[in-house]
Amino acid sequence: MNNFEFFNPTRIVFGKDTIKKIDKYIDKNNRVLITYGGGSIKRNGVYDQVIAALGDRKVFEFGGIEPNPHYETCMKCVDYIKENNIDFILAVGGGSVIDATKFISAAYYFEGYAWDIIASNKKIERAIPFGTVLTLPATGSEMNSGSVITLNETKVKKSFHSELCFPIFSILDPILTLTLPKKQISNGIADTFIHVIEQYLTYPVNNQISDRFAESILITLIEESKKIFSNPEDYDVRANLMWSASLGLNGLIGCGVPQDWATHMIGHELTVLHGLDHGITLAIVLPGVMKIMKDEKGDKILQMGERVFGIKDGEREERILKTIEETENFFISIGIPTRLSDHGLDENCIDPIVQRMIDRKWSLGENGTINPEKVRLILLDRL
Ligand code: NZQ
Ligand code: ZN
Repeated sequence: MNNFEFFNPTRIVFGKDTIKKIDKYIDKNNRVLITYGGGSIKRNGVYDQVIAALGDRKVFEFGGIEPNPHYETCMKCVDYIKENNIDFILAVGGGSVIDATKFISAAYYFEGYAWDIIASNKKIERAIPFGTVLTLPATGSEMNSGSVITLNETKVKKSFHSELCFPIFSILDPILTLTLPKKQISNGIADTFIHVIEQYLTYPVNNQISDRFAESILITLIEESKKIFSNPEDYDVRANLMWSASLGLNGLIGCGVPQDWATHMIGHELTVLHGLDHGITLAIVLPGVMKIMKDEKGDKILQMGERVFGIKDGEREERILKTIEETENFFISIGIPTRLSDHGLDENCIDPIVQRMIDRKWSLGENGTINPEKVRLILLDRL
């Protein structure tokens, strides 16, 4: 097992009808800014519940945060905060609203060009405290300190992390996910699945506990996803998927294991250059990463095949290929087509992505061996 430190201060308030509990965790005298996205919270009653819970506090709002949030939008919110003297931010939405809120809370105090927080990894000294009301289980952003922002001007999508950007609390009410379109449910399941894979499908370090945690999340996702579309009102299915998403990327399963993240890095390029949803890009790229990197990842692919998909028979190579096939079939089973061509892209999309990798001198993966040529092979496999 590798050495590790684990720190996670976010309070999780989980269950039915829990929005009202925000009253307990935000100071009564705070001036509170609600951040939100394109307006789903106003159509499905979540906004009304939040307003009721905030009671007599002075409330402000900033909406219009887009999926894959833009730096440019975040900075408009920073200006709004400067005008209104905000003490606390309440992010109400999915990963995009939460990620934007993290950046906003840090950018507010940052002196200089705030994109440098991301581009140059500039240290954050202070951030406005914030909580979240999660409406879309997927990213784990409600329980981690990471955020992914896009500089729209140059089409760069990049993450930053700061211990000051953990939410103070996150409300996880599975009922709030009932209004999600089917596509967003699938995207969220794929995103969670691949967060687990990024921290699991590397090479063995004899970390039994992190491996078993990871496998339990993968198995839960596979089992619950079979039920969610046939029985969408089932509270426990919603609850299991929601808690899986938080546990998939709150730091726990990443303790003491190597991590990959190549699928995410390549996926981000597909999002900024071609507008594909985050979860969809991952479901496209992962089977290619598994295939092209199967020699380095072989032992863990075998373990996953046996423990997650029950693949026990056959020669090593045969079992590895079967596990890759089962993984791809899982994404297809939740309604995500896994080929670039399914999403209107052909081989012309590959060169620009490879070139961006060369320009940034990227070498990805747990061993740093996924060079631009490997990325080309991965994407060629996905046509
Ligand atoms: O904007 P509104 O109107 O609210 O609609 C949203 C949006 O259109 C809608 N939605 C959310 N909850 C809903 C709902 N519609 C109906 N009912 C509800 N209850 O869903 C759409 C997508 O929302 P978004 O927040 O963009 O999705 P997601 O949670 O998948 O977040 C994706 C972003 O998170 C980043 C991604 O890169 C992407 O930018 N990630 C953040 C991570 C982190 N902070 O740790 C890790 C992830 O790997 C990921 O990269
Ligand atoms: Zn993700």
